[in-house]
Amino acid sequence: MRGEAVEVRIADTSVRAFADESIAAALVASGAHVLSRSLKYHRPRTFFCLEGHCSGCLVRIGGVPNLRACQAPCLAGTEVMGQNAFPSAEVDLLGAVDFVFSRGLDHHTLMTGSSMLNRLANKVVRQLSGLGKLPDVAASQHPEVQRYDVDVCVIGGGPAGLEAANQVARAGRSTVVVDDQLRPGGSLRTDPRAGRALAEATWRAATSAGAAVLSRSTAIGFFPEDDGGVLAVAAPDRLYRIYAKQWIWATGGYAANLPFPDNDRPGVIAARAVGRLLVDHGILAGDRVCVIEVPRMVDAASALAAGLVEAGAEVHRVALDRVEGVRGRSWTSAVDTADGKYDCDLVAVAAIPAPASEGARQQGCQVVLDPTVGGFKIVVDDLGRTSTPNVWACGDVCGYLGPAASAADGARVGANVAAS
Ligand code: FES
Repeated sequence: MRGEAVEVRIADTSVRAFADESIAAALVASGAHVLSRSLKYHRPRTFFCLEGHCSGCLVRIGGVPNLRACQAPCLAGTEVMGQNAFPSAEVDLLGAVDFVFSRGLDHHTLMTGSSMLNRLANKVVRQLSGLGKLPDVAASQHPEVQRYDVDVCVIGGGPAGLEAANQVARAGRSTVVVDDQLRPGGSLRTDPRAGRALAEATWRAATSAGAAVLSRSTAIGFFPEDDGGVLAVAAPDRLYRIYAKQWIWATGGYAANLPFPDNDRPGVIAARAVGRLLVDHGILAGDRVCVIEVPRMVDAASALAAGLVEAGAEVHRVALDRVEGVRGRSWTSAVDTADGKYDCDLVAVAAIPAPASEGARQQGCQVVLDPTVGGFKIVVDDLGRTSTPNVWACGDVCGYLGPAASAADGARVGANVAAS
C-alpha cells in the first residue's frame, strides 16, 4: 500500500510523489536522469544502488547538502536540488573540465610554473571544489543521546535479520533490530520472487513476536572499550547507545558494480536497484533493459528479467565477459558486446553483493576474503557463532545466499541464539 499523494519540488519543478517512497523513486518516476556532478571532472552522477551505499545520489534537500535521495522520504513540499553543478546538474558548464583535461588533470602541479597563475588557479579551484555548499541554516542543537539495553541486538533488517529477530523475540528475549533503510525487508524488496508483500509480512511477524525495529537507523560504530561494548546508532531524531548480551550481524551485502569500460555512466544501475524500483515502488525504470551478469547471479538475473518482461520491458541479457563498453553521456543509450551493439535505455548490473562486514570486524569477528565477490565475509561455525563470544552472524554477510536462503539461515541462527 503506497502512502498518500504529495507534491515535492525537484529543481523548481513540482512533481507528484507518494508519502512513503524515497525521493530517489520520485526522481526516477519523474524522468530525472542526472542528479549531481562528480567532484573533480564534473561527470554526470546519479543513482546506482538505491540502498544508501554508493553516494551516487547526493542532493540538496530542504537546504541541507549531501543527503542521499534514496534514503530520504518524500514529504509534502520537500525541495530537492542537484549540487556540484552550474547552472544545473543536467546542463553543467563546469563539465568542460572533462573535455579540456581529457587525459586527466593533476591539480598538484596545475599552473605551478608561474606564482601569479598558481595563485589564480588556487582561487578558482577553492571556489569550485568541495561537495555541495553549506546548509542554509546552521544546526541549532545536538541530537538527544539515548541508552538502550536489550538481550539481543540484531544489526540488519533484511530477510536474515528479521527472521533471526522473530526467533529470539518469540523465546522471550528483549530484541531490537537496527536497520538503515526507509523500511525493513532488505533484499526481499528487490527480488520479484519475494516481493513487497513478503517483506511487509516478515517485518510484521518480527514485531508481532515482540522485536522492536529501528528503521532509518545506521549502526555507525562498535566501541568495545565502553562498558563491555556499545553500538552507536544514528536515527533520524537521536543517537542510541545500544548495550546487548548477544549480537547478531545480518547486514547482508552491498550492491556492487562489474568491471567494464564506462561502467560509471548514468543509467548503469545495480540490478537490485532496478528490482527495488519494480518490486517496492511499482516503477519500470526502462523500456529496453540490458542485464549484465556473472554466472553466480544467473538465477537472480532471470527472476529480474522475468519481472521486467511481465511489466512490459524488452530485456536483453549478456554475460560480463562479452561486454565491451557502454554508450551514452548523460544517460546510457547502448551496450557494445562481442556479439554486436544492443540499444537500451537502462543497464542493470547483476553482480554478487559484497558482504557488509565492517561493523562485525570492529567487534573483533574473524573475516575471510571471498575472491569471487571481492569482499570480506564473516567466518561462522555450524551454529552461526563468530570468533567473538556472544556474537553471531547469518545471511549474505557470511557469503552470498540470496533472499530465500538468507531468511532460512536467519531463522536457523536465531533459533540457535534463543537456545544458547
Ligand atoms: S546511495 Fe543512493 S543510489 Fe546509492
